[in-house]
Amino acid sequence: MQFFSDPVLETMATRRSLSKVGPETPGDEELARLLPAVSAVADHKVLRPWRLITLRGDDRARLGEALDAAAGVVREPGEFNTKPFRAELLIAVVASPKPHPKVPEWEQHATAAGVGHLLELALWRCGWGVMWRTGLHANAPEVRAVHGLADTEHLMGWLYVGSIDERLRARLDRSRRPALDPQQFISRMPA
Ligand SMILES: Cc1cc2nc3c(=O)[nH]c(=O)nc-3n(C[C@H](O)[C@H](O)[C@H](O)COP(=O)(O)O)c2cc1C
Repeated sequence: MQFFSDPVLETMATRRSLSKVGPETPGDEELARLLPAVSAVADHKVLRPWRLITLRGDDRARLGEALDAAAGVVREPGEFNTKPFRAELLIAVVASPKPHPKVPEWEQHATAAGVGHLLELALWRCGWGVMWRTGLHANAPEVRAVHGLADTEHLMGWLYVGSIDERLRARLDRSRRPALDPQQFISRMPA
């Protein structure tokens, strides 16, 4: 069953987060090609208050060490934090607010969050599995440091990206989220 005949709306309505993804990932060129779909985000005064950082290979080990340090976790020799290894590609979404007299920081964070959502949707549309994750220590000093964040920046989390197993895709195609009751989400301004 389709929600929409329009393919864009249908993609939006059927997007799902995948906690387990496969080993293939979009390359940097594919990510660069998707950028126009992401930079069209609503952006007050077009400040572009965001940036993306890709983590591949050993970058993820450095993230694991930073997360451990932030959480005070000490591991046995040879052990490591496996969480960043749940995908071969992590994309850190960074809010990078610019001082502006008419655009408060929260609006710029909203734009950065929009970038995360659009990128997640664009990747999904291109056939990639994605899950946006944060965790308690996303903005701990150790974690910020390995990403090279400025004091003014905020890490909005990571998109974990990978391929989708064919059987899982078939299952996803068959399943649908329950419809929402519009009255619970859309109302008139109170008199
Ligand atoms: C900013 C942000 C951070 C999130 N962090 C986590 C997280 O750390 N762990 C988690 O299980 N889900 C997290 N989620 C939720 C998942 O990405 C996902 O939306 C949720 O599991 C529901 O699945 P769905 O997107 O298919 O509806 C986060 C979502 C957002 C927008």
